[in-house]
Amino acid sequence: MADETALNDFPSLFSLKGKVAVVTGGSRGLGLNAASAFLQAGCSKVFITSRKAKACDSAVAQLNRLPNLEPGARAISVPADSSTLAGVESLVSQVSRHTEYVDILFANAGATWGEAFDTHPESAFQKVMDLNVKGVFLCIQKFAPLLQKRATVDDPSRVIITSSVAGLGVGATGPQATFGYSASKAAVIALGRNLAVELGPRHILVNSICPGWFPTKMATGLLEMTGGLEKHAARNPNKRLGRPEDIAGVVVYLSSRAGSHVNGATIQIDGGALWKTVTLEDEPVESKL
Ligand SMILES: NC(=O)c1ccc[n+]([C@@H]2O[C@H](COP(=O)([O-])OP(=O)(O)OC[C@H]3O[C@@H](n4cnc5c(N)ncnc54)[C@H](OP(=O)(O)O)[C@@H]3O)[C@@H](O)[C@H]2O)c1
Repeated sequence: MADETALNDFPSLFSLKGKVAVVTGGSRGLGLNAASAFLQAGCSKVFITSRKAKACDSAVAQLNRLPNLEPGARAISVPADSSTLAGVESLVSQVSRHTEYVDILFANAGATWGEAFDTHPESAFQKVMDLNVKGVFLCIQKFAPLLQKRATVDDPSRVIITSSVAGLGVGATGPQATFGYSASKAAVIALGRNLAVELGPRHILVNSICPGWFPTKMATGLLEMTGGLEKHAARNPNKRLGRPEDIAGVVVYLSSRAGSHVNGATIQIDGGALWKTVTLEDEPVESKL
């Protein structure tokens, strides 16, 4: 009988040594948290993209100052608007100038809009759907040839989509309601499952993460409008908001050999807050992002 204690090279199970990653929405927030994790886990190149070139450049400078990178490893700024086909094509072409392959695509860029039901604007709904759903699809479609280049059954490439607990339950309601956002985040979960089946045979695994509240630029305003950071932390079963390491741990797991049989999954990173809304004894959480 095989030795069931014998794990193949356990020390390298979570390593991303030599991997090439692209992070959309990488200039700040959860994308920048993930980019830092990818580099510190051993990636050789991490491409940072968002609309503003200055923001990408400054994120890259910050990442390249990290003290514990692999020799020669670096972050590279590739600004683009990932909500349009022209923007995604420009992104792929900029990345292709530096590499012939991509191992990890973190399709993370997203936007939200809060407004009451009666006045919720068509333009905001469209903008959110363009970036959060169409842009995610286009990024995966246009990066697929680069993702396929080095992918094998034993070492598949990875796509991680940032959805939200708003896509699993109910997002913000009332005056700052997030109808387009919540619909977009449910849509990308479905997209991720469909693409997991479509792209699995090409050795590209597709998974979604569903963060709860993380106090980033996007979330802080809404957190403050709905009771404040401390109140939201106190309501959480885990008694805190999300931290950068919570994103780091999950994206490294999903991108590493440890996650190489996880495909089509949806991972909540919310301290259990989603389930608190369905208990009877506690006051309901008014909104989730
Ligand atoms: N923070 C939370 O509590 C939370 C919870 C659940 C899910 N999420 C999701 O997590 C993801 C990251 O959010 P975050 O909280 O880190 O927000 P954030 O701090 O506002 O960061 C958003 C990032 O997306 C970029 N971006 C915006 N529009 C873009 C476009 N059209 N093309 C390319 N990049 C664009 C922004 O840079 P530019 O302005 O330079 O383009 C920025 O880098 C989003 O998908 C969000 O929905 C966040």
